[in-house]
Amino acid sequence: MSTHKPIRTVVFPVAGLGTRFLPATKMVPKELLPVVDKPLIQYAVEEALEAGIDRFIFITGRGKGAIEDHFDKAFELEVTLDARDKNKELSLLNKSMPQPGQMMFVRQQEPLGLGHAVWCAHKIVGDEPFAVVLPDDMVLGEKGCLAQMVQAYNETGGNLVAVEEVPHEHTNRYGVLNPGETKGALTRIKGLVEKPDPSKAPSNLAIIGRYILQPEVFAPLTEGKRGSGNEIQLTDAMATLLGTQPFHGFSFEGKRFDCGDKIGFLEANIAYGMAREDIRPGLTEILAKY
Ligand code: UTP
Repeated sequence: MSTHKPIRTVVFPVAGLGTRFLPATKMVPKELLPVVDKPLIQYAVEEALEAGIDRFIFITGRGKGAIEDHFDKAFELEVTLDARDKNKELSLLNKSMPQPGQMMFVRQQEPLGLGHAVWCAHKIVGDEPFAVVLPDDMVLGEKGCLAQMVQAYNETGGNLVAVEEVPHEHTNRYGVLNPGETKGALTRIKGLVEKPDPSKAPSNLAIIGRYILQPEVFAPLTEGKRGSGNEIQLTDAMATLLGTQPFHGFSFEGKRFDCGDKIGFLEANIAYGMAREDIRPGLTEILAKY
């Protein structure tokens, strides 16, 4: 039995503009783009459910209302499918949905950065540790990335960020670790820098979109200091807490796809398609043509 406070809450920051995916994201939220046949945000919710989470906070913005609708009951559709005996399709609609009362939607009125988006959840999260999942980072593996992290957190407590090695020339796209010693999957964090130039990056260990955080992170976020890109950065807020709380990078098992990027998104569609028995034969045939 873990002595650490359990992780009950996840925050999904989904208020970003998705400019790298224009024109697709002009009217459709990036988080509703499907990988094979499921929107990114539904994979994220399923990953959180697998990790034992039962409170789901979505930080949304203008034009993101369809995300809320996706997790609602589609009454007309269900009645029509039922009348036509389309039971398979019907069962897909309500599979792995959170229970009524478990989902909360908060508006981030201005896209001031990931740190600000997370801060928008502080009144609901309260004085508890919580998880953050960025739905455009997908991790394909046997066990969900967040479930792996919750398991590690139950042993170590403190703060955990999912990390992976990225090509050195890409450090300016990520929060990057100044790493201390590594024990198994955990690397102690000595320093954190947001989007460092490759010439100044302390390592190539980059944070990907999964975090387990203590509520103390809200205090530096409340100050609203701007960082890289003139945005309020979560990495900067975490950096101010180093030394006052345990912080570890967690090397997860699985393959990560950056679905906020067109090529990463296309690769994810292929990888997730190939992992599905119903899709693999047809997809293999098509891929051979190219
Ligand atoms: P990104 O850096 O991927 O930004 O944000 P983006 O706006 O989604 O996409 P691009 O770069 O313009 O193409 C990382 C995560 O933080 C959220 C995004 O929704 C995404 O999940 N975010 C970012 C917010 O919720 N609010 C913000 O102000 C900024």
